[in-house]
Amino acid sequence: METTIFYYTGTGNSLWTARMLAARLGSSVPVSITGFRGTLDAGGERALGLVFPVYIWGVPAPVIRFVDSHRMPRDAYVFAGAVNAGQVSNTLVQLERILKHQGVRLAAGFGIKMPSNYIPWGGPGPEETRRRLFKQAEEKIAGIASAISRRQPLPVEKGPLWQRILFTAMYRMSFNKVPEMDKGFWVDDKCDRCGICAQICPAENITLKGDGPLWNHRCHQCFACLQWCPKEAVQYGRKTPAYERYHHPDIRLKDMLNDPAR
Ligand SMILES: Cc1cc2nc3c(=O)[nH]c(=O)nc-3n(C[C@H](O)[C@H](O)[C@H](O)COP(=O)(O)O)c2cc1C
Repeated sequence: METTIFYYTGTGNSLWTARMLAARLGSSVPVSITGFRGTLDAGGERALGLVFPVYIWGVPAPVIRFVDSHRMPRDAYVFAGAVNAGQVSNTLVQLERILKHQGVRLAAGFGIKMPSNYIPWGGPGPEETRRRLFKQAEEKIAGIASAISRRQPLPVEKGPLWQRILFTAMYRMSFNKVPEMDKGFWVDDKCDRCGICAQICPAENITLKGDGPLWNHRCHQCFACLQWCPKEAVQYGRKTPAYERYHHPDIRLKDMLNDPAR
């Protein structure tokens, strides 16, 4: 009973979640959405998972593209984990609809709360809170893994109605603007042109010029370029020089660069 867990990640929370699930499930492999070039086929016993961060209260564009461009197996047990900083909102309902359009049922949809990587609104929070979130996530993942191994259907998690109405409107308003939101990135004089920002970008959106990185308006807003810069030289807007950087403590740069798209 093999399980493939497709993940998308900017700062490793979703990769860590996919790994934890895979470890609990056994005979299961996490595969990067952005690096995947194959086709999906599934025997009736198989399970297929999607694990990704919540972006602007919805499903990130690369995850939608992945689902749209691969025929999802109708006979598989399909589950999804929306990794978030406290507001899963309508994300899993949105994914459920996208899959339904393909004739695929989302058998289980769960939220996993982790530290925030949305640095324009501040850092990831106190270390103690982060540790608590990891522990709670680990416990939740254990329960979910046990449901997945029994192929048990689980109701799709969602936020309160007011949140889903308001934030879905905001998601829709901003969705097409995301690729150009990279206009806020800049580098300070700590940049030594090492090129890690360009390598780690899953959108292949960054080119290195003589005077540093250039963002080419195909951004996913994952913030990997900023969060993984070893010199903390990549900035966004005016406030980020003062904010702490974040990536999941168990995920290393080499884990991220292992993705064929990076
Ligand atoms: C552009 C962007 C938008 C985000 N929007 C939300 C959101 O609507 N709700 C939420 O709970 N977290 C939001 N977050 C936080 C991330 O979902 C969260 O930190 C997640 O764990 C990051 O996963 P990753 O490390 O796999 O990239 C957002 C993060 C980014 C970068």
